[in-house]
Amino acid sequence: MKNALFIMSLLALLYACGDSSTNTGADENKKPVSTDVYRGKMLISQNDCLTCHREDTLLIGPAYNAVAAKYAGQTAMVDTLASKIIKGGTGVWGEAVMTPHPQLSEADAKLMATYVLSLSH
Ligand code: HEC
Repeated sequence: MKNALFIMSLLALLYACGDSSTNTGADENKKPVSTDVYRGKMLISQNDCLTCHREDTLLIGPAYNAVAAKYAGQTAMVDTLASKIIKGGTGVWGEAVMTPHPQLSEADAKLMATYVLSLSH
């Protein structure tokens, strides 16, 4: 009787070990890296940005990949570009003027800037 109990607990132990080694749940918890980039891209398509900008050609405003190349590696530019998107401006790329977007929240403008800057990779 004692033996049977011992074998049963041994089996339980083996079962528990096997269970944990086949657990692949960890992979599913990996955070997608590009959520902010994706949200920024969506916001840009939902606002008037594409009237003046394209991803890879100069329109009225600079191509977004040109903006990304100009500020490559400068992570602090997210804040600067976000406030420029809200306030509008001119003089960095030429004489054309970007209209202000005071209706945008700072958080949304930052997501857009994050998307634009992501185009340099
Ligand atoms: C009326 C046309 C127009 C619209 C609409 C517009 N832009 Fe611009 N954008 C420009 C121009 C022109 C410039 C270049 C400004 C300069 O030379 O300082 C510019 C510059 C930029 C820059 C680079 C700023 C810098 O200082 O290098 C970013 C980023 C940008 N726009 C994002 C956006 C986003 C995001 C939107 C939508 C919310 C938007 N733009 C809407 C015309 C526009």
